[in-house]
Amino acid sequence: MAFVTSQDMLIKADQQGYAVGAFNVENMEMVMAVIRACEELNAPAMLQTTPSTIGYAGLPLFVANVKTCAEAAKVPICLHLDHGSSYDLAMQALRQGYSSIMIDGSKLSLEENILLSARVADACRANNIPVEAELGKVGGKEDDLEVSDPGYTDPEDAVRFVRETGVTSLAVAIGTAHGIYKGEPRLDINRLSEIDQVVDIPLVLHGASGVPDETVKECIRRGIRKVNFATELRIAYSDGIKEYLSEDPSVFDPKKYGRRGMEKVTELVKQKILVCGSENKA
Ligand code: 13P
Repeated sequence: MAFVTSQDMLIKADQQGYAVGAFNVENMEMVMAVIRACEELNAPAMLQTTPSTIGYAGLPLFVANVKTCAEAAKVPICLHLDHGSSYDLAMQALRQGYSSIMIDGSKLSLEENILLSARVADACRANNIPVEAELGKVGGKEDDLEVSDPGYTDPEDAVRFVRETGVTSLAVAIGTAHGIYKGEPRLDINRLSEIDQVVDIPLVLHGASGVPDETVKECIRRGIRKVNFATELRIAYSDGIKEYLSEDPSVFDPKKYGRRGMEKVTELVKQKILVCGSENKA
């Protein structure tokens, strides 16, 4: 179908009350595996890369990879910068052809976060590229990103943040964390409803790996329109490869174990699409 921005897919999700799955990809195999799952369930999706993933292969390679696969796919696919860590990285991603950008100023003070997010939103608006920002701090560790002092999103701050930045979607902190949970996460689900009542742009849930399906669905009922999954995809891909290597330790063809990794990712992403309710929404 097409390589698209995240704008229309998030607006449609908002109108129809489901969420778009946003899947972190680390290499060509994961890109192919995620898009295969989307095609099998006729779902739109966002594929996203963190700064450390970009450090691994570079922006141009991910743009070429995702764009090539998206243009041949039967469903709309967008390429999103996840946790853009600076204005410069956001602008590089914009210039290289990312079709959706996140700027993460959540470690800054509210004022500094507003200034940075507004600056990125202004530049992206001129290019018709949507911008996600984060308010409050999602805890945990993912790649090189570690937050040891998580903080919940304040609904009043959220109103001011959205008004003064002009961002098009907002990542909220309600108790989820990146990476693997030690126990069952305890979310402040009422806070999510409060934010949804006063903010009229799509809300984003980070740190969804390990959150029970029913809890993710409840978050979607209360206004989440994009759900981020990273750690579980990395585990699925690695488990597939480990499984193949233990069955056939003498294998030396990366295509053989790579296929097993892809199958595991496709299977997982299909489950997550069903949790998001984005099947048949392409
Ligand atoms: P998980 O690693 O917990 O799935 O979080 C993903 C995420 O929020 C990416 O930004």
